[in-house]
Amino acid sequence: MIPKETIDKIIDAARVEEVVGDFITLKKRGANYLGLCPFHGEKTPSFTVSPAKGIYKCFGCGKAGTSVNFIMDSQQLSYPEALKWLAKKYNIEVVEREISPEEKALQNEKESLYIVMQYAQRYFTHNLHNSDEGKSVGLSYFIERGFRHDIIEKFQLGYSFEERRALSHDAVKNGYKAEYLVKTGLSILSNQHVEGNPITEQDIFDRYTSRVMFPIHDVGGRVIGFGGRILGSDKKLAKYINSPQTDIYDKSKVLYGLWFAKKAIQEKDNCYLVEGYTDVISMHQSGIENVVASSGTSLTVEQIKAIHRFTNNITVLYDGDSAGEKASVRAIDLLLEEGMNVKVLMFPDNDDPDSFSKKVTADEFKTYIENNTQDFLAYKTRSLFNETKNDPIKKATVIKDIVQSISLIPDAIIRSVYIKECASIMELQENVLQMEVTKLRRNKASKGENKPVQPEVNEALTEALTGTEEKQENLIVAESEEKELLRLILNYGNVIIEIEAENEDKEHHDFELSVSEYVLFELMRDGIDFLNPIHQMVLDEYMHQLQENKLPDFNYFKNHLNPAISTFAIDLASATEELSEKWNAFGVLVEREIYHLKKATQHTIYSLKEKRLSKMIHDMQEELKTAPGETHEEILKDILRLTQIKMQVNKLLGRIVVK
Ligand code: CTP
Ligand code: MN
Repeated sequence: MIPKETIDKIIDAARVEEVVGDFITLKKRGANYLGLCPFHGEKTPSFTVSPAKGIYKCFGCGKAGTSVNFIMDSQQLSYPEALKWLAKKYNIEVVEREISPEEKALQNEKESLYIVMQYAQRYFTHNLHNSDEGKSVGLSYFIERGFRHDIIEKFQLGYSFEERRALSHDAVKNGYKAEYLVKTGLSILSNQHVEGNPITEQDIFDRYTSRVMFPIHDVGGRVIGFGGRILGSDKKLAKYINSPQTDIYDKSKVLYGLWFAKKAIQEKDNCYLVEGYTDVISMHQSGIENVVASSGTSLTVEQIKAIHRFTNNITVLYDGDSAGEKASVRAIDLLLEEGMNVKVLMFPDNDDPDSFSKKVTADEFKTYIENNTQDFLAYKTRSLFNETKNDPIKKATVIKDIVQSISLIPDAIIRSVYIKECASIMELQENVLQMEVTKLRRNKASKGENKPVQPEVNEALTEALTGTEEKQENLIVAESEEKELLRLILNYGNVIIEIEAENEDKEHHDFELSVSEYVLFELMRDGIDFLNPIHQMVLDEYMHQLQENKLPDFNYFKNHLNPAISTFAIDLASATEELSEKWNAFGVLVEREIYHLKKATQHTIYSLKEKRLSKMIHDMQEELKTAPGETHEEILKDILRLTQIKMQVNKLLGRIVVK
């Protein structure tokens, strides 16, 4: 763990213009710098670096971030790795947080395990290419399957000898401890070993014998495990033996091939997800490199997160058998729930990407993928509807199934797009589907299953999230107020403003409040949640920090570990930056905003409230059209009450003129 203070020190030192300037030529433009974007090919510069805000943003491709993000992206590093990279550049010593002797021992031990794994990979690969047994059994197997030499080398494929102590013996002879061979899972402890005694070479034998070996790498390229495949098709033996769970290999977190794929995933902004080791390898051989496999386990949330770091888009390529279809259905739901855009591709009967790719040319393979990839909704409707054959009861089950998948999507706007599409494919009324989705989401939220809890808004507002285009537009409009309020509290949270208010005896008083206190007070008073989940997350965390007497600013959120939040904060910061640039250009001082702070804040709050009220009124009017007669009076009363409040808010709004 890098201590917080060191992280701050690194971030302070790593001036964004300097870090970026090491990679591209920057020209000064006013307060900012301009250059050619390194992330997408361009001829006219649209890559802007703002030293004042400590961020960069490309107006061509939208990439934006801090100096740390820049290094993560350009050097393909994780967050802590990027910090260390920068620390090195600025000669900042990274003494990782003092760790207990136990932690230290574990860390050293982990290092030892990595070293043993690296040795084993080299050993197996050496066997494959340089021994008679390896060449005649292992290598010829790969060649027969059509794997090219360069691909065999790229994936560091190997071979384990038939002799059941071959690796254990060679390793110990070369100074690797028997204990670590057991801890990596390369060797197995025989039951002759007496517990408590030191482990010797005589106590162990190899886990893998007579198998071709697929090393499994972590995202940084270190070997952390192996899959070993038998050569024949002996049904009595497991086709694959994989490394057991160890201190360096957690199969629920690892994706096979991610290290080889991450660059291509970023470039293509898409990731193919396949089932097996051989599928990954064959796709590389066909020239498709943005591919990973969840090998040996059903897909987990951690694995999805590992992909999500690089892209929002995933195409599930599962085997054309019923097991593959089942697995894909589960995977799709999990991916949707994690907010990924999901496409699906099925292969013809009993083919997997590997076998199919061997039947066609590389170009035909690519064309097949292009032509047969479907959106998840189209895939589900088609594959499920085929089974129902006009049976109304079955049809209802299918619809429920599809609606259930849609309800998992965290983003309200994307959800509503799918509801629309689904309604039109199935010739159903949109609002019926919408109601079903709302119900499912509410059930789920009340069960507390929904991890990134979508703020539950009142029914009229939930309604507003979907339905007609006009409604959607409204939502987006209201979003700008949410965003503006966040921008204000992040920029001026502790600036004091004077607010006029009435006390219980109707006397007027001036209250001194900070901008953040005022905004939060106004929101809480009327129970207003932000509709955009990212906005609400930022707000929640902001409040949480305030309660701990901390005042979070842009920097706090810019360096947030949740990429959705950091991206949002960076965009927000650059919006401020553009604004102040504009002001400057007209020779107007930026102080102006501070001067008008009270008005700006009040105006935004009232305008947010006004929009929410309009929406509620509009929805009630709609409700009136279909509601049974005896409820009309109640609804009309509510409409009247809300309209009066809205008029008051409008009056307040009219008085505040922001100059
Ligand atoms: N798998 C496993 N153990 C098994 C069978 C499968 O761990 N006994 C995992 C492997 O990661 C394998 C994946 O599940 O790559 C997919 O299985 P399968 O489709 O049976 O294997 P393929 O990768 O297609 O291997 P091959 O082409 O050699 O048959
Ligand atoms: Mn397969």
